[in-house]
Amino acid sequence: MASTVQQRLNEVAAVGQEIAETGVAYLDGKFTPLADAKVSIATHALQYGTGVFEGIRAYWNPAKEQLYVFRLREHFERMAGSVRIMRITLPGDPDALSEIALELLRKNGFKSDVYVRPLAFKAARSVKVALQGLRDGFGMYAFPLGAYLPTGGLAARTASWRRTSDDAIPARGKLTGAYINTALAVDEAHDFEADEAIFLTADGHVSEGGGANIFMVRDGALITPPVTDDILEGITRDSILQIAAELGILVGERQIDRTELYVADEVFFCGTGAQVAPCVKIDGRVVGDGQIGPVAKKIGEVYFGIAHGDDKAHPEWRTAVYR
Ligand SMILES: Cc1ncc(COP(=O)(O)O)c(C=O)c1O
Repeated sequence: MASTVQQRLNEVAAVGQEIAETGVAYLDGKFTPLADAKVSIATHALQYGTGVFEGIRAYWNPAKEQLYVFRLREHFERMAGSVRIMRITLPGDPDALSEIALELLRKNGFKSDVYVRPLAFKAARSVKVALQGLRDGFGMYAFPLGAYLPTGGLAARTASWRRTSDDAIPARGKLTGAYINTALAVDEAHDFEADEAIFLTADGHVSEGGGANIFMVRDGALITPPVTDDILEGITRDSILQIAAELGILVGERQIDRTELYVADEVFFCGTGAQVAPCVKIDGRVVGDGQIGPVAKKIGEVYFGIAHGDDKAHPEWRTAVYR
């Protein structure tokens, strides 16, 4: 058991480290060294969490000597939705922002799996807690990233913190301040030696992980909570729903009770950071037979194959960085 915990910690060790201030970033209309991409301590978003962000992965394919961004445009389309909620103006449409992301990756010359972090925020030096009439800022940076969550079978804990509901802080938008909810829940999970939190909605249904969507397998069907249960509408979730249907797996979006996870055959998390992360233990109970199940295994293999460009399916999901 001790070595399993150690293996899990080793796999994700890099996530907790500070990001090196090397390479090129983008801030307010120009590329600049990451070390110089700074904001004022008086920035509104730093005080009040009034920002929106995205997390995008690009996968390095050594055989093809190519870096593929996964579902690039869809991330900026979602960001365009998040900023509507926060009344922030982006400096361009999804195509223009996608071009900036590609240029950023080229300028950094990455030849490894990387994570791209675009951030739009209330940049005004203002203490007024409101949304309108405040100057907006936009930046982007990228850095090498391996696993964010363990992918070899993780432990999860149902959070005592409820998911923020749509009428409090909407989970549909990827809002910086909303991630306090995640930090509280994941921190609590770590106190119980679990890797990831499971959020319940205010009315007690399963919502999602701390930073990932959740799926379960029951009676051969792959089921995930609906978009109305206070989830981030995940791009990986959408990809997996499509992949599963193409594999002939019965898929469904419906409310899930907490104890359904205890009796499920399989549970796994998914997300840009999390990728496909099977869950073998919830609240101290073994999920299924305690091993990675066949559905999670197959979907993980197909997802990684497509994202890396080894599997030719869904070419529309991959954008090649280098010409
Ligand atoms: C709270 C939350 N839910 C779900 C996801 C998964 O979304 P996506 O697959 O678009 O990365 C994320 C981010 O990865 C997240 O932070």
